[in-house]
Amino acid sequence: MAAISDCSGLILAAGKGTRMRSARPKVLQTLLGEPMLRYVIDAVAAVLGANFRVVGGYGLAELEKTWPDIRFINQTEQLGTGHAVLIALPNLIASGSEYVFVVNGDAPLLTASVVREFIERAGEVDVAFATLTLADPASFGRVVREADGSARIVEAKDYDAAKYGAPTGEINAGAYLFRLSALAPLLPLLANDNNSGEYYLTDIISLALEKGYRVAPIDCGANPALLGVNSPAELAAAEEILRAQAANALLESGVVLHFPATVRVSPLARVEPGAELTGPCEIYGQSRVAANAVVESFVQIRDSSVGAFAQIRSFSRLEGAEVKARALIGPYARLRPGAVVGENAHVGNFVELKKTKLGAGSKANHLTYLGDAQIGENVNIGAGTITCNYDGENKFATEICDGAFIGSNAALVAPVRIGERCVVGAGSVITKSTPSDSLAIERSRQKILPRKTKDGKK
Ligand code: UD1
Ligand code: CA
Repeated sequence: MAAISDCSGLILAAGKGTRMRSARPKVLQTLLGEPMLRYVIDAVAAVLGANFRVVGGYGLAELEKTWPDIRFINQTEQLGTGHAVLIALPNLIASGSEYVFVVNGDAPLLTASVVREFIERAGEVDVAFATLTLADPASFGRVVREADGSARIVEAKDYDAAKYGAPTGEINAGAYLFRLSALAPLLPLLANDNNSGEYYLTDIISLALEKGYRVAPIDCGANPALLGVNSPAELAAAEEILRAQAANALLESGVVLHFPATVRVSPLARVEPGAELTGPCEIYGQSRVAANAVVESFVQIRDSSVGAFAQIRSFSRLEGAEVKARALIGPYARLRPGAVVGENAHVGNFVELKKTKLGAGSKANHLTYLGDAQIGENVNIGAGTITCNYDGENKFATEICDGAFIGSNAALVAPVRIGERCVVGAGSVITKSTPSDSLAIERSRQKILPRKTKDGKK
């Protein structure tokens, strides 16, 4: 289609989202762990490549931090969707494309195929807009169809039933295609003499009809992919639609899900067929769960990988971690960024790893903190072991070599190195490095004394 190859994109995302009642910019509210705007950006980028921009305003610095590679246009005052497009106009003209696809940034269910189909159906008109038919038109802009077949948009706040009749349920979805040569002369004509005092992009439709441009409403039926999110309830409903879609796709692909209605997997995460997940569980970000891995209930995994046949037991939390094949994690384990658990290694209850590599076959099964540590293979870390990696100002590294055995309740004061096959006695505070095949013990000798009675006699 001519339009797609000659089309730039514009995403409107400058509004605060007053109806969310939150200080966070609405487009940064999350669904399955990802900001709302990511879904819109991904859908648009999949069709238009890098030929699009985003209008930001409220919380723009946060948006730019989240997407350092995206080109934003700053709408310093949010005077309405029409004003947002007006300030972007010089950029749209500079893009050199004949058409522009404009879409609201608060439509997280948008997909690449919906964007593509809309632009293709719009074809080579001057102005096109997508319409949806809902049981309740709620606060959406309403589509008013005239006897001559033309259609325009009247915002809910300005809708006068005496003038337009009862609303039909057909609403403006918030996705548009404009021929730039039509849009450019119309934008400066927008006024804000309406009940919101805003420059409505939707008034372009009436203006275009008045000036004799070709306008095409594109009926998208009841496709929820185009629904805008304005309130916490709408956010929750959209998130549940995405969640169910992801869970169904996993089932279809051959992932075993127990209680699928409570399995929450981000569309960015990859779970291989043959893996087994029990809800409720959450797998977010760029995570990967390999075939035959098991994730039990009440587990949260973010930006982490889980190898084949590994087990993540209940109530564990993984973030930025790598768990290799056949490792056992949890229950109640915490793997923080930079944790790498080797093949067949075990990390048990109330064990925390941060920037720590635990080698193949090594075990830390109970009540332990391992931070900034390199731990070799077949090491046993006793219950209550702590790497003391922080002196209040700086972090220091601990090295524990292959085959070492750390007794219970040892404190390893970094920087320190425990040699191969070294045994550290229970309760020791180790401040000096130990050679291989040694026994390091640091605690006072136990005394056995006669017990004294209250009156001091034996
Ligand atoms: C808008 C449409 C309405 C449509 C609905 C679909 C207008 C006037 N109305 O209403 O017809 O049914 O979307 O979901 O367009 N934004 C800016 N700058 C601004 C104002 C808004 O960038 O000055 C952005 C917002 O961040 C948001 C999008 O534009 O992502 C839509 O704004 P919003 O206030 O949510 O419009 P609606 O009232 O939902
Ligand atoms: Ca909206």
